[in-house]
Amino acid sequence: MRALRLAAWAAVGVVVVAVAGLFTYQSFYRSTENSLSADVRLGAPFRLVDHNGEPITEAALAGHPSAVFFGFTHCPEVCPTTLYELSAWFDDLGGVSDDIGVFFVTVDPERDTPELLKAYLSNFSDRFVGITGDPGEVAQLAKAWRVYFKKVPLDDENYTMDHTASIYLVDPGGRFMGTIGYGENRETALLKLKRLAASAGS
Ligand code: NI
Repeated sequence: MRALRLAAWAAVGVVVVAVAGLFTYQSFYRSTENSLSADVRLGAPFRLVDHNGEPITEAALAGHPSAVFFGFTHCPEVCPTTLYELSAWFDDLGGVSDDIGVFFVTVDPERDTPELLKAYLSNFSDRFVGITGDPGEVAQLAKAWRVYFKKVPLDDENYTMDHTASIYLVDPGGRFMGTIGYGENRETALLKLKRLAASAGS
């Protein structure tokens, strides 16, 4: 009888812990979500070089909506797919998307010279702006955008880069407007880009 009572109390204990855990988890999840959607500013001041070899700073992103993607020209799949899809989505949207600036920041500035970026980006769209420059500055910029990247050796001479595969969307004031994930379906991506375009002038 006593063992039964202990077991019953133990069962109550398990339920209490489980419920408390669920509440903690939910409030943590909500607060994380809120902190991302509410007025978050990504990025930081920077001094780098564009695909024409001209100086470029954070001012290039001000005053219009922007789509920002970090990648590298030797990327076997994620970057070419993303740039190809972005270019196709802009074709679909037509003039509605004219105000959106698109920036491709290399996470591999050692290999991605302005010349290489220019040749690479011209395969996709003439509206894409390439950004490269001092590796330390590039790393700081990636951090300010909460972008992860890492050099991964392939053999003695070659390497590839792991990197965040999402496109970051920001309004003219630099406020975060969400991401487009790798492989996101066309309809959702178009809705997000329309919403981004509508932030022009805000
Ligand atoms: Ni890539």
